[in-house]
Amino acid sequence: MNNYKSVGVIGTGSYLPSNIVTNNDLAKIVDTSDEWIVSRTGIKERRFAKDSVSTSDLAYEAGKRAIEDAGLMSEDIDLIILATLTPDMILPSTACFVQEKLKAVNAAAFDVSAACSGFLYGVTIATQMIKGGANKNVLVIGAEAMSKVLDMEDRDTCVLFGDGAGAVVMSEVKDGYGVLATDIGADGTGTMALNIPAGGSRNPATQTTVDEKMHYLRMEGSSVFKFAVRAMTSSSKRVIDKANLTLDDVDYLVPHQANIRIIETSAKKMNLPMNKVKVNLDRYGNVSAGSIPIALDEAVKEGKIIKGDHVVLVGFGGGLTWGSCLIKW
Ligand code: ACO
Repeated sequence: MNNYKSVGVIGTGSYLPSNIVTNNDLAKIVDTSDEWIVSRTGIKERRFAKDSVSTSDLAYEAGKRAIEDAGLMSEDIDLIILATLTPDMILPSTACFVQEKLKAVNAAAFDVSAACSGFLYGVTIATQMIKGGANKNVLVIGAEAMSKVLDMEDRDTCVLFGDGAGAVVMSEVKDGYGVLATDIGADGTGTMALNIPAGGSRNPATQTTVDEKMHYLRMEGSSVFKFAVRAMTSSSKRVIDKANLTLDDVDYLVPHQANIRIIETSAKKMNLPMNKVKVNLDRYGNVSAGSIPIALDEAVKEGKIIKGDHVVLVGFGGGLTWGSCLIKW
């Protein structure tokens, strides 16, 4: 990555709805158990937003906290990039709802659609927009109201996901710090492994699509699992190479929080002990695009990431897509 301007994270924030849904709560609705969910995924509980709360409400709260943490005002933000697979509406972008709520009157705003990798796609775009001189202070948000697209009769999917949002403010930082490398990619042969079939132009919403539950998330769990381990390891290695570092130089890993078995396998392949890896999926489940920025905010606030650390953020998701980023904090 060229070095004429160093770009990094100057503030983080996150927001989780207060309503906790435990595995035992779900076991009252579908044929599952706390033991199955914990042993196969590591998830113990997740948050579900109230019916009246949409993705932009969660995103607004996280964005506001990140702006405060950066010591800026909403008017200082000149671009909002919001990653989500659960937009408030198909039109307009959820980023525009957030722009209005934040009163970020000087900000352009758009959404990124790359499922759970969306936040890292957003970080990659923000880095280049600032490096190129088009923007100064970019708010990147990952936010999801996954509970709104879950089929609560499908035990294969409804136990995995949760709601929440995380955000970062990105700006120019001191030379040598900030984003040292990014890596994003996609494999469109996997479009059918994880999708919401109806509500778009291929299957516009009709009584039939609703009756057939085509507006809910569908997933082939085991093929996504295999892809995830490959993508997390190879993408992390690529950003480390691009930054001219080695695996030994990595101080902390913030992985997408989908499944503890995916995280542990990836960490093992990277020779990273689990005390250098952020895990919060036991409390929040998979928050899709919100997962990495929520985990990053927690790790920073807990003092697990300190100035000068080499931090790898890595994720994978529907598309299929992947992304990673190496930051000198
Ligand atoms: N409770 C009880 N039993 C269940 C449940 C449940 N909630 N869900 C599935 N089962 C059953 C299955 O029906 C199956 O039964 P069978 O053998 O009689 O057919 C059995 O458990 C085993 O199912 P597997 O699919 O083999 O279980 P596996 O160990 O692969 O775990 C899981 C499933 C957790 C979904 C795993 O495959 C996984 O984590 N995949 C990755 C998913 C992921 O990361 N998705 C997010 C992508 S990010 C994004 O973009 C949104």
